[in-house]
Amino acid sequence: MRSVQVGICGLGTVGAGVFNLLTRNSQPINARANCAINVLQVGARRDNPNCDTADTEIIRDIFDVAKNPQVDIVVELIGGTTVAYDLVMTALDHGKHVVTANKALIAEHGMEIFAVAASKGLVVAYEAAVAGGIPIIKALREGLAANRINWLAGIINGTTNFILSEMDSKGRDFEDVLVEAQQKGYAEADPTFDVEGIDAAHKLVILASLAFGMPLSLEGLFTDGITNLEPQDVAYARELGYVVKHLGIARSSDQGVELRVHPTLVPEKSLIAAVNDVSNAVMIDADAVGTTLFYGPGAGSEPTASAVIADIVDVARTIDAEADARVPALGCDLSLLQPRPIMDIEDIETSFYMRFSALDKPGVLSDITKIMADSSISIEAIIQREHPVGEDYVNVIILTNVTKEKLLDGAVEHIEQLETVRGSIHFIRVEHLDQ
Ligand SMILES: NC(=O)c1ccc[n+]([C@@H]2O[C@H](COP(=O)([O-])OP(=O)(O)OC[C@H]3O[C@@H](n4cnc5c(N)ncnc54)[C@H](OP(=O)(O)O)[C@@H]3O)[C@@H](O)[C@H]2O)c1
Repeated sequence: MRSVQVGICGLGTVGAGVFNLLTRNSQPINARANCAINVLQVGARRDNPNCDTADTEIIRDIFDVAKNPQVDIVVELIGGTTVAYDLVMTALDHGKHVVTANKALIAEHGMEIFAVAASKGLVVAYEAAVAGGIPIIKALREGLAANRINWLAGIINGTTNFILSEMDSKGRDFEDVLVEAQQKGYAEADPTFDVEGIDAAHKLVILASLAFGMPLSLEGLFTDGITNLEPQDVAYARELGYVVKHLGIARSSDQGVELRVHPTLVPEKSLIAAVNDVSNAVMIDADAVGTTLFYGPGAGSEPTASAVIADIVDVARTIDAEADARVPALGCDLSLLQPRPIMDIEDIETSFYMRFSALDKPGVLSDITKIMADSSISIEAIIQREHPVGEDYVNVIILTNVTKEKLLDGAVEHIEQLETVRGSIHFIRVEHLDQ
């Protein structure tokens, strides 16, 4: 059996998982790759107690791995967009195929990296970059190749889903759950990328590019995190039959492409509402197949390693093939990708959940509903609940029918000007995906 030499750069959570899984499941992995996959070197600044690298050579400078003439595939698992970028470029310069789990790198520099790789007949594979262990890249790029994709929506960040699940099931505060997520190792020490939606934005850009055949770009993407979400909104959503999820949504229409990441109310009976804790799920709606749902672990050492090794197997199996015979990084030749206009969030049509504090006296609600009607927004449900701090104010919760976001913004501005309304209006977008 021929052998393919792999150099792993980065021996953290995912790097250790890749090494351990390649060792433990070498027999079926080699059979599927039709070659012996051998980890020739590991580039790591320090040892990882979760990984016994035994006789494998450990190199302290990862760039030595990328330049080693005997290495066929460089596996980049250090993260970030600076050293990782240099490492990937160095590997390509030295004629290596690359496997990476790095969504930030692919979302921000993917076009350049893929172009360099294509010019050299090399592969840059990135299955683990989106939704961890779920083989969503392969599904979208290859499994759904016959389809025109209408839209996709996903829970693509495990940390935010864990936080929202805890807020929903136990009524806990955002800050409180965040601390637990950090203690459990779900969230980064600096959790901004997770809770502000940046990580999900990186992943959404990759999915949208594959779905709609457009170049990778973060431009125009709307991002809102979960830091301002209050437990009372999660509870009121439940009362109305909805669950709050942090979704990445990409939708194609005649006006362009919607690209947005934000907290979203989804009906509690929808499939995606049942995706809890650190799990991920991506729902894809396409013209031929209809709606499909891909569910599974979105992070973790071995789930992510599973996706990384799937890429290693792909590259190893076709390493001697003509470059044209391999599946292109973004599903087609890069020259065939077509930029699409990204829609302004103001032009997007959806339903809305609104909450505000209004004086508890006759006539107040009719003023509010008049403003809504004048703005051509119809109301699906309205509830009034005692204000948490008592006083003369009540919480008013409104669920609208589908409307343009700019119409809602206008109505919000008018309602906030009413003397009977106190503070600002909180609103959350509502989606009926599989209904
Ligand atoms: N963790 C997950 O569940 C998951 C899921 C999907 C994708 N990913 C992606 O996988 C990649 C790796 O994530 P991870 O969770 O494994 O991160 P991690 O646990 O922080 O591991 C990163 C490793 O890279 C090492 N490293 C960083 N810069 C280096 C350098 N210049 N030279 C040598 N080693 C260097 C770090 O070494 P030190 O310890 O010495 O700093 C650390 O061991 C990231 O792109 C991440 O986004 C992770």
